[in-house]
Amino acid sequence: MRPLKICPSILAADFSKLGEEVRAAMNAGADVVHVDIMDGHFVPNISFGPAVMGSIRHVTDKPFDVHLMISPVDAYLGEFAKAGADLISVHVEAGPHLHRTLQAIRGLGKKAGVVLNPGTHESAIAPVLDMIDLVLVMSVNPGFGGQSFIPSALDKLRAVREMTRGRDIDIEIDGGVTAQNAAEIAAAGANWLVAGSSVFRDGPACYARNIAAIRDAAAGARGEMA
Ligand code: DX5
Ligand code: ZN
Repeated sequence: MRPLKICPSILAADFSKLGEEVRAAMNAGADVVHVDIMDGHFVPNISFGPAVMGSIRHVTDKPFDVHLMISPVDAYLGEFAKAGADLISVHVEAGPHLHRTLQAIRGLGKKAGVVLNPGTHESAIAPVLDMIDLVLVMSVNPGFGGQSFIPSALDKLRAVREMTRGRDIDIEIDGGVTAQNAAEIAAAGANWLVAGSSVFRDGPACYARNIAAIRDAAAGARGEMA
């Protein structure tokens, strides 16, 4: 089984002290920093860009998982690579040429991920399976934190698990992940769990408890001791 990673989405952090928030979440036991980049065009919201991301890169040694909700995306890949991304994920629809975009990410020396929206069929990843390190299954429509988990994402996780079996590919879920649904999510095949609101709630003193609750539920479903 591929290692379980808990990935706080910093979209739900307090932006007035972003560096402290990232440090707090990582010190509280998280594994990966999930960075949501929204352009106000591909998705109906704007978050922040590579300069802000770069300014917080030094607060942790843990990997930065950069989820680009930008279209067209190619012009920005280099900036995010330079700002400290370890893995860069792009949506199937980010266009204009998914294959070329993935080549470009690998060409920058970064791991590459491809993102499936709730309305996008998993077959879209079939032609690029040799070019990716991760598949991100969206369990909400992208653009906002704090939305409810869309249950059909579980079937999509199972389908992606079959498609990627035997390959060196992680499966990530993003949107509406909580300690209550983490077990069924892990059982369906996701090993990277993104969580925004369910990690960054009730203040930094609670982050360790929030992260542990998600991890324990997922680890239990995998037959592991947390
Ligand atoms: C949505 C983002 C998610 C979001 C998750 O477009 O990709 O990463 O911030 O937030 P929660 O966990 O609150 O649904
Ligand atoms: Zn995301």
